[in-house]
Amino acid sequence: MNTPRAKSDDDVQHYVKLNSTRVNVRPDARKHVQAHLSADDHGDLDLLVTLLGSPEVMAFYPRPKTRDEVADWIAWNECNYARDGFGLWLLHDHDGAFVGECGLTWQQVDGKEDLEVGYHVLPEHQGLGFATEAAEASRELARVHGIPKLIAIIRPENHASRRVAEKLGLTVEKTTFTSTGMEFQVHSTRLR
Ligand SMILES: CC(C)(COP(=O)(O)OP(=O)(O)OC[C@H]1O[C@@H](n2cnc3c(N)ncnc32)[C@H](O)[C@@H]1OP(=O)(O)O)[C@@H](O)C(=O)NCCC(=O)NCCS
Repeated sequence: MNTPRAKSDDDVQHYVKLNSTRVNVRPDARKHVQAHLSADDHGDLDLLVTLLGSPEVMAFYPRPKTRDEVADWIAWNECNYARDGFGLWLLHDHDGAFVGECGLTWQQVDGKEDLEVGYHVLPEHQGLGFATEAAEASRELARVHGIPKLIAIIRPENHASRRVAEKLGLTVEKTTFTSTGMEFQVHSTRLR
């Protein structure tokens, strides 16, 4: 996918920073979104295993990810950063606690590729607005990149995720199925 690279000093570090609107408005706010994810940092691998290996977090997926699958997930993100200038970011609060991940990835749905906003938050940090805040920052980054449309692919019974999508301004575009017959909804919005 030929998308422009982000114009950020952080870009040379292989990632762009997600700018949380809340931090921009209230610099002393305790909550904010920080972004980094690096394949050669085993700390990140450990953090993501606690997230994507959690049966609770992965309740709406076929199964939690193994450690090897999480390493592949990080490698996939490294490729996405290099190609697109964005990907998924680790989220930390102002106290440095790991909260989860959120960001932008290209996804194929029914043979068509669209940019998806995705989010996973550790159970102990859920319900505090982190996913919404990070997803809003991701949506704005997509706008900066000139992306015309943003989607979220969500299982119908995943009410928390549907609510985050709704708060982002996404509406249900269609219902479809994976190759294994799993039903999901495509939520979408135009960005320009
Ligand atoms: C989806 C998820 C990322 C939301 O993270 P979060 O940080 O708790 O989200 P927020 O606090 O920003 O907002 C959650 C919203 O969903 C609502 N919500 C939470 N659980 C809900 C439920 N069972 N039914 C309806 N709404 C629900 C909250 O009330 C809140 O809406 P509100 O602000 O109007 O009250 C989190 O639940 C999660 O990680 N789930 C597991 C991973 C996952 O399924 N990811 C999405 C894959 S498509």
